Amino acid sequence: MIPSVLFVCLGNICRSPLAEAALRVEAERSGLDLIVDSAGTGNWHAGEPPDRRAIAVARRHGVDISGLRARQVRPDDFRRFTHIVALDHDNLSDLRKLAPADAMAELSLLLDHVEGRAGQAVADPWFGDEAAFDVTWAEVTAAAKGLAARLRAGR
Ligand code: 4NP
Repeated sequence: MIPSVLFVCLGNICRSPLAEAALRVEAERSGLDLIVDSAGTGNWHAGEPPDRRAIAVARRHGVDISGLRARQVRPDDFRRFTHIVALDHDNLSDLRKLAPADAMAELSLLLDHVEGRAGQAVADPWFGDEAAFDVTWAEVTAAAKGLAARLRAGR
Protein backbone atom coordinates (compact mmCIF):
# COMPACT_ATOMS: atom_id res chain seq x y z
CA MET A 1 0.00 0.00 0.00
CA ILE A 2 1.24 3.49 -0.87
CA PRO A 3 1.68 5.54 2.32
CA SER A 4 -0.61 8.55 2.57
CA VAL A 5 0.09 11.50 4.86
CA LEU A 6 -2.29 14.26 5.96
CA PHE A 7 -0.80 17.27 7.76
CA VAL A 8 -3.20 19.13 10.04
CA CYS A 9 -2.89 22.60 11.62
CA LEU A 10 -5.55 25.11 12.71
CA GLY A 11 -6.25 27.17 9.59
CA ASN A 12 -4.64 25.08 6.79
CA ILE A 13 -3.17 28.29 5.36
CA CYS A 14 0.25 28.57 7.07
CA ARG A 15 1.89 25.52 8.64
CA SER A 16 0.23 22.44 7.14
CA PRO A 17 0.45 23.60 3.49
CA LEU A 18 4.19 24.18 4.08
CA ALA A 19 4.53 20.68 5.59
CA GLU A 20 2.67 19.27 2.59
CA ALA A 21 5.04 21.09 0.21
CA ALA A 22 8.16 20.01 2.11
CA LEU A 23 7.17 16.33 2.09
CA ARG A 24 6.30 16.48 -1.60
CA VAL A 25 9.77 17.93 -2.33
CA GLU A 26 11.49 15.30 -0.18
CA ALA A 27 9.48 12.42 -1.71
CA GLU A 28 10.36 13.58 -5.21
CA ARG A 29 14.03 14.03 -4.30
CA SER A 30 14.27 10.55 -2.79
CA GLY A 31 12.00 8.70 -5.24
CA LEU A 32 9.35 7.86 -2.64
CA ASP A 33 5.83 7.13 -3.89
CA LEU A 34 3.21 8.62 -1.57
CA ILE A 35 0.02 10.64 -1.30
CA VAL A 36 0.21 13.97 0.59
CA ASP A 37 -2.51 16.40 1.60
CA SER A 38 -3.21 18.94 4.35
CA ALA A 39 -6.25 20.22 6.25
CA GLY A 40 -7.22 22.44 9.17
CA THR A 41 -9.15 21.69 12.35
CA GLY A 42 -11.01 24.99 11.78
CA ASN A 43 -13.05 25.98 8.74
CA TRP A 44 -12.62 29.80 8.71
CA HIS A 45 -10.31 29.70 5.70
CA ALA A 46 -11.91 26.84 3.74
CA GLY A 47 -11.51 27.38 0.00
CA GLU A 48 -8.75 29.98 0.42
CA PRO A 49 -5.17 29.75 -0.88
CA PRO A 50 -2.30 29.67 1.65
CA ASP A 51 -1.29 32.86 3.47
CA ARG A 52 0.82 35.09 1.16
CA ARG A 53 3.79 34.79 3.54
CA ALA A 54 3.59 30.98 3.33
CA ILE A 55 3.40 31.18 -0.47
CA ALA A 56 6.46 33.49 -0.38
CA VAL A 57 8.65 31.28 1.82
CA ALA A 58 7.81 28.20 -0.28
CA ARG A 59 8.63 30.17 -3.43
CA ARG A 60 12.02 31.18 -1.95
CA HIS A 61 12.70 27.43 -1.68
CA GLY A 62 11.53 26.67 -5.20
CA VAL A 63 8.00 25.37 -4.50
CA ASP A 64 4.75 26.88 -5.75
CA ILE A 65 1.93 26.32 -3.22
CA SER A 66 -0.37 29.05 -4.55
CA GLY A 67 -2.72 26.46 -6.09
CA LEU A 68 -3.50 24.78 -2.76
CA ARG A 69 -6.92 25.45 -1.19
CA ALA A 70 -7.75 25.12 2.51
CA ARG A 71 -10.21 22.53 3.76
CA GLN A 72 -11.35 21.27 7.13
CA VAL A 73 -10.34 17.82 8.37
CA ARG A 74 -13.22 15.29 8.42
CA PRO A 75 -13.77 11.88 10.07
CA ASP A 76 -13.31 10.05 6.76
CA ASP A 77 -9.70 11.31 6.65
CA PHE A 78 -8.93 8.83 9.44
CA ARG A 79 -9.93 5.97 7.12
CA ARG A 80 -8.31 7.37 3.96
CA PHE A 81 -4.83 8.25 5.29
CA THR A 82 -2.22 5.94 6.83
CA HIS A 83 -0.60 8.81 8.75
CA ILE A 84 -2.11 12.02 10.15
CA VAL A 85 0.47 14.48 11.43
CA ALA A 86 -0.54 17.35 13.73
CA LEU A 87 1.49 20.55 13.83
CA ASP A 88 0.82 21.34 17.51
CA HIS A 89 -0.75 19.88 20.66
CA ASP A 90 -4.13 21.58 20.19
CA ASN A 91 -4.38 20.12 16.69
CA LEU A 92 -3.47 16.67 18.09
CA SER A 93 -6.08 16.79 20.83
CA ASP A 94 -8.77 18.05 18.40
CA LEU A 95 -7.88 15.17 16.06
CA ARG A 96 -8.20 12.62 18.87
CA LYS A 97 -11.71 13.93 19.58
CA LEU A 98 -12.70 13.74 15.91
CA ALA A 99 -11.28 10.25 15.24
CA PRO A 100 -13.95 7.64 14.42
CA ALA A 101 -13.88 4.22 16.09
CA ASP A 102 -12.59 2.58 12.91
CA ALA A 103 -9.75 5.07 12.35
CA MET A 104 -6.81 3.55 10.49
CA ALA A 105 -4.42 6.51 10.49
CA GLU A 106 -1.51 6.66 12.91
CA LEU A 107 -1.47 10.01 14.71
CA SER A 108 1.73 11.88 15.51
CA LEU A 109 3.13 15.36 16.09
CA LEU A 110 5.20 16.77 13.24
CA LEU A 111 8.31 17.29 15.37
CA ASP A 112 8.15 13.65 16.58
CA HIS A 113 9.84 13.03 13.22
CA VAL A 114 12.86 15.20 14.08
CA GLU A 115 15.53 13.72 16.32
CA GLY A 116 15.70 15.49 19.68
CA ARG A 117 12.42 17.38 19.17
CA ALA A 118 9.78 14.71 19.88
CA GLY A 119 6.74 16.08 21.68
CA GLN A 120 7.38 19.69 20.62
CA ALA A 121 4.97 21.95 18.73
CA VAL A 122 5.48 23.93 15.53
CA ALA A 123 4.70 27.52 16.59
CA ASP A 124 1.96 29.29 14.65
CA PRO A 125 3.67 31.91 12.46
CA TRP A 126 0.31 33.65 11.76
CA PHE A 127 1.06 36.49 14.20
CA GLY A 128 4.78 36.49 13.38
CA ASP A 129 6.91 38.17 10.73
CA GLU A 130 8.66 36.76 7.68
CA ALA A 131 11.38 35.26 9.89
CA ALA A 132 8.71 33.21 11.69
CA PHE A 133 7.83 31.61 8.36
CA ASP A 134 11.52 30.80 7.79
CA VAL A 135 11.52 28.94 11.13
CA THR A 136 8.37 27.05 10.07
CA TRP A 137 9.97 26.11 6.75
CA ALA A 138 13.11 24.80 8.51
CA GLU A 139 10.99 22.71 10.90
CA VAL A 140 8.70 21.19 8.28
CA THR A 141 11.70 20.42 6.05
CA ALA A 142 13.53 18.60 8.86
CA ALA A 143 10.37 16.63 9.68
CA ALA A 144 9.76 15.78 6.02
CA LYS A 145 13.24 14.23 5.81
CA GLY A 146 12.67 12.17 8.97
CA LEU A 147 9.20 11.08 7.93
CA ALA A 148 10.30 10.16 4.39
CA ALA A 149 13.16 8.05 5.79
CA ARG A 150 10.68 6.24 8.04
CA LEU A 151 8.22 5.63 5.21
CA ARG A 152 11.01 4.37 2.93
CA ALA A 153 11.87 1.87 5.66
CA GLY A 154 8.20 0.80 5.63
CA ARG A 155 7.42 2.05 9.15
P1 4NP B 1 -2.18 27.78 10.49
O1 4NP B 1 -2.19 29.32 10.95
O2 4NP B 1 -2.95 27.00 11.53
O3 4NP B 1 -0.72 27.43 10.51
O4 4NP B 1 -2.79 27.74 9.12
C1 4NP B 1 -3.38 30.01 11.24
C2 4NP B 1 -4.02 30.71 10.27
C3 4NP B 1 -5.19 31.39 10.55
C4 4NP B 1 -5.71 31.37 11.82
C5 4NP B 1 -5.06 30.63 12.80
C6 4NP B 1 -3.90 29.95 12.50
N1 4NP B 1 -6.89 32.08 12.14
O5 4NP B 1 -7.25 32.11 13.32
O6 4NP B 1 -7.53 32.63 11.26
